[in-house]
Amino acid sequence: MIGCNLSGKKVNLRPLMDDDLPRRVQWMNDAETVRLYSGIYPIRVYLLADAERWRQALEVDRWAIVWAFETKEGRHIGDLDLHGIDRKELTAKLTVLLGDKEYWSQGYGTDAITTMLKYAFSDLCFDTITLKVFAFNKRAIACYKKCGFEKVPNTPSGLWSVIGPGEEQMAVTRKRFMEQASIPKAA
Ligand SMILES: CC(C)(COP(=O)(O)OP(=O)(O)OC[C@H]1O[C@@H](n2cnc3c(N)ncnc32)[C@H](O)[C@@H]1OP(=O)(O)O)[C@@H](O)C(=O)NCCC(=O)NCCS
Repeated sequence: MIGCNLSGKKVNLRPLMDDDLPRRVQWMNDAETVRLYSGIYPIRVYLLADAERWRQALEVDRWAIVWAFETKEGRHIGDLDLHGIDRKELTAKLTVLLGDKEYWSQGYGTDAITTMLKYAFSDLCFDTITLKVFAFNKRAIACYKKCGFEKVPNTPSGLWSVIGPGEEQMAVTRKRFMEQASIPKAA
């Protein structure tokens, strides 16, 4: 499913377009980014075909929603998606890639995620959003905590069926998101 337009304080979320994929190719050929995102050092070049496969996989996942996010000046700096949506349990899994390293640690990721969460909880009525993150990815963990996520046990009852070595599972509920006063409210 194509994500709708959403407006945050620092970024706008919009539908991902064909023209966006070459930027993902650029980002996914950066060794530091790939290690933070996938937990491995890249073992081969990431091709446009890989980006197309990534998007197709989200399309096959019938209810998945994918967005590109850009600065208020219109620079595409990252992609974000909700997948593995369980419409009965009202849960979904988040993946985010702020690929343009120039923009790391300046609040863009937090704004993109909180803008999406506000929509996911208020308009789509999700109950819980989860994610997986590598324990060494301190920036990501700090960002997710600012968005209201907290670490949850990696048990079989967890929402991710496969948790790899060094990965942690985090979750935020609608109740927690709405209550957490420190979360900057999206426009
Ligand atoms: C993870 C990601 C989405 C976060 O977005 P971001 O815009 O860089 O993050 P934010 O600036 O909103 O928040 C990061 C926080 O971590 C802090 N931080 C940065 N490096 C840190 C470190 N080594 N240890 C602890 N905190 C750190 C920042 O100072 C900031 O906190 P502050 O606002 O209180 O100062 C983005 O960096 C990204 O996509 N990185 C590459 C791929 C990746 O890691 N994806 C996530 C896979 S789970």
